[in-house]
Amino acid sequence: MKDLISLHDLTSNEIKGLLSLGLKLKKELKEGVPHPILKGKTLGMIFTKSSTRTRVSFEVGMTQLGGYPLFLSSNDIQLGRGETIHDTAKVLERYLDGIMIRTYAHSDVLELAEEANIPVINALTDLLHPCQVLADLMTAYEHKGRLEGLKFAYIGDGNNMAHSIMYGCAKTGIDCAIATPAGYRCDEEVVENAKADFKAGGSSLLITEDPVEAIKGADIVYTDTWVSMGMEDEKEERLKIFMPYQVNKELFANAAEDALFMHCLPAYRGFEVTEDVIDGPQSVIFDEAENRLHAQKAVMATLMADK
Ligand code: CP
Ligand code: NVA
Repeated sequence: MKDLISLHDLTSNEIKGLLSLGLKLKKELKEGVPHPILKGKTLGMIFTKSSTRTRVSFEVGMTQLGGYPLFLSSNDIQLGRGETIHDTAKVLERYLDGIMIRTYAHSDVLELAEEANIPVINALTDLLHPCQVLADLMTAYEHKGRLEGLKFAYIGDGNNMAHSIMYGCAKTGIDCAIATPAGYRCDEEVVENAKADFKAGGSSLLITEDPVEAIKGADIVYTDTWVSMGMEDEKEERLKIFMPYQVNKELFANAAEDALFMHCLPAYRGFEVTEDVIDGPQSVIFDEAENRLHAQKAVMATLMADK
């Protein structure tokens, strides 16, 4: 592993290794055991989109690992004024030990990883959000005691979350069902890659337009905003089309009795999910948010520690 760009690139064992290291670092943190694995190292954090969880969890995580996080807003660095990714990569690799990037085009992250001789971590693109899914898998494991054999249902937009969830489930033996409206299906190439991963791993993938079919008997029910960053112009139209996909009490009742409700956050109550579900007893949204910290520390420690 040189970079973390997509869970599709990782083996099942690499993902399990990251999850168990994340759980170990979480336990050590709670017990007050210091783990300065990245002492003296610096992580550059490029953001061309907003963030609460990602920014704070990476900054805090890097600090807890004994390193230094350097926030680089695209409003402030020359990348935002047209400097090339190539030149940015070649300059930053002279100063930094790793780069975390949140941006729009997935191809920009691929290019950065290709050009930079230091690890690159994808902290969300329009296509994928692997760090979030690592935290979600960790959360599912903590609550359910296993991953293999679970059933995961994602209801809503066929977006970056849906894509990374498919990859994450395929690599960890989770059966996955995705329900999206017809015009908002997942990216075809991602689905094809995921299908191959599901075949290799032995769990199943169901893609449907029917939220009830997807959610039936699910152990984990997941949704995300209907209006991702960069899609603000489509908001009005999307809110109408997606209403039948709202995760409300009625839809949630089709899941397993002890199903968990998950959301990457930020959430928009009354749209993709109702208050009774997201603020109800089966919701684990803040565990997911906390686990961003622990899972990403595992990623940084794995990629950036001296070998
Ligand atoms: N879930 C997530 O990535 O949140 P932020 O956009 O706040 O970083
Ligand atoms: N799909 C959302 C996820 C936010 C964490 C977005 O891209 O805006």
